Amino acid sequence: MEKGYTASITGVGSFLPGKVLTNDDFTKMLDTTDEWITKRTGIKERRVVEENGATASDLAIEASLRALDDANVLPSEVELIIAATITPDCLVPSTACFIQEKIGAKNAGAFDLLAACSGFVYALSIARSFVASGAMKTVLIVGTECLSKITDYTDRSTCILFGDGAGAVVVQRGNGKKEIVTTYLGSDGSQADLLKLPAGGSKLPASQATIESRSHYIQLKGKELFKTAINNMVDMITKAATDNNMQVEDFDMIIPHQSNIRIIEAAMERLKQPKKKAYINIDRYGNTSAASIPIAIDEIDKEGLLNPGDSVLLVAFGGGLTWGTSLIKW
Ligand code: UT7
Repeated sequence: MEKGYTASITGVGSFLPGKVLTNDDFTKMLDTTDEWITKRTGIKERRVVEENGATASDLAIEASLRALDDANVLPSEVELIIAATITPDCLVPSTACFIQEKIGAKNAGAFDLLAACSGFVYALSIARSFVASGAMKTVLIVGTECLSKITDYTDRSTCILFGDGAGAVVVQRGNGKKEIVTTYLGSDGSQADLLKLPAGGSKLPASQATIESRSHYIQLKGKELFKTAINNMVDMITKAATDNNMQVEDFDMIIPHQSNIRIIEAAMERLKQPKKKAYINIDRYGNTSAASIPIAIDEIDKEGLLNPGDSVLLVAFGGGLTWGTSLIKW
């Protein structure tokens, strides 16, 4: 990519709602067990907002303020806010506009980005481009999801997967730390059917029938997605290594979207990499879609798990289908 500047992540923040939904809680609602969920997904618990409680923008505002504080940046310095989400507060106005107002980013443009679980990596790619081209100096991006609000808690094969949360980063001109070296984005709309929320758009507007058929909830073809996700992750990591003139071994850490521990471990095995090279927090938060990677980045940063100069690969895959990677030089 042509660029005038390098771009760095200069601040990170996340926010998780306080309510914990454990596997044992599900055993009281559904025909399931802690053992099945743990073994098949790696998830032990997830965070969820209270019913009729916080929205995606509420979670995003907290994460964003923490990221701005971490970057030592005033809200008025932000030129663009991108909210990556599949659970916007509403369709119009955008969730990014609610964030803009609440954090007082009075000089910022704002829009939402829908790329499902790849949303954060897509947003990071856009932020990097604006900063690298010199068009902007400070971009705030946030992956935020209230998946509990679109989860069908009568469908045991999907409801155990999802959680709520938000993670935000500030992207600015390179400062020699956490440089966004490259990004890569991909998609395949022919596989749209694997993960969808059918109703509520122009194709299937809300009606009595869509409510009765539970079409306002997320639906996934787990088995097909599972296989595709492993193949995609292996291909994307291999491609990222090739594109960056590296070997897969050269990545010090891989931060994958947290969809299922078996997907991540199978990919690591196929790539002949130690399992511990992939950062995992799915046991505590489940799949938080666009929020999963920035929440992980925040934890890794706060816990000091990486050293300056480490090569870190973000790798995401989700509905659309969409996918993407980003190489960060820590
Ligand atoms: O973030 C975007 C990307 N997301 C993904 O890529 C998700 C990918 N898919 C998955 O993670 C997995 O496919 C699931 C976790 C959704 C399902 O795991 P699985 O190992 O593929 O299970 P399955 O769908 O093949 O079901 C196996 C059995 C079935 O019973 P029968 O037909 O063998 O008798 C299911 O009915 O497990 C049953 N089952 C459950 N049993 C207990 C499904 N859900 C449950 C449950 N508790 N919660």
